[in-house]
Amino acid sequence: MRMRKKRRGGERLSQLSALFVSGKEYKTAFDCERPLRIEIGCGKGDFICQLSKIEPDYNYIAMERVDDVIVVAAEKYAAGRDLGQLDSHGGWKTPDGTIYDGERWDIPLEMRGNVRFMNCDASTLDEIFDEESLDTVYANFSDPWTKNGYANRRLTHPDFLKRYLRILKSGGYFRFKTDNVELFDFSLESVEAEPGFELTFVSRDLHASERAETNIMTEYERNFSSQGIKINCLEARKK
Ligand SMILES: C[S@@+](CC[C@H](N)C(=O)[O-])C[C@H]1O[C@@H](n2cnc3c(N)ncnc32)[C@H](O)[C@@H]1O
Repeated sequence: MRMRKKRRGGERLSQLSALFVSGKEYKTAFDCERPLRIEIGCGKGDFICQLSKIEPDYNYIAMERVDDVIVVAAEKYAAGRDLGQLDSHGGWKTPDGTIYDGERWDIPLEMRGNVRFMNCDASTLDEIFDEESLDTVYANFSDPWTKNGYANRRLTHPDFLKRYLRILKSGGYFRFKTDNVELFDFSLESVEAEPGFELTFVSRDLHASERAETNIMTEYERNFSSQGIKINCLEARKK
């Protein structure tokens, strides 16, 4: 009997590569045109998997730079859409029992649903997306980069806000959540100083706010919240 090697995180990406896009491929990646939303730094995908089901009238891009992490998000999404599951060797087992062991499953377009995954860094956002092509940009619990000299890597640095403004449609939203008070203060200041945005929601305790009921928790959010840490949230609309 042939012994199968256990597939590691990044290696598993090729099995579900039909759910991944790079560069401008996003334009033809969906079976039907809907307003487009993006989550930057989707992590292991809890947020995007839930949101894309609750609000199905949108197409979604889940962007994440770490391949070992984004593959978990893609597998979670695929399992949640009844496209199969990982087998004990890390191969992908489809509902009819076929196992893709490191090779691509060419999932029919109509079965791929409304989320595609992009394994890249957000600094390339404005090279990838056309001007005024997006409905919403989400950034949840992004890295705080608190050390001196790294502020320009924060996803709410003025340079990133300019990128969002370029790719968002007028009336589109930037939505941001973090546990980190220093990052939140910085983010609030950056958004307030950016004339292209108007703040439409601010809370320093999201779970006690009027949006608590409709809030979709991310992995990090659940973890911080269980430790009693308050969640900060802001939403800004492109004028
Ligand atoms: C702290 S985790 C939060 C994950 C998830 N959003 C959550 O709330 O559970 C931040 C994630 O964003 C990713 N990330 C950070 N900066 C990024 C960037 N510039 N481009 C793409 N992904 C990024 C990291 O690799 C990491 O997986």
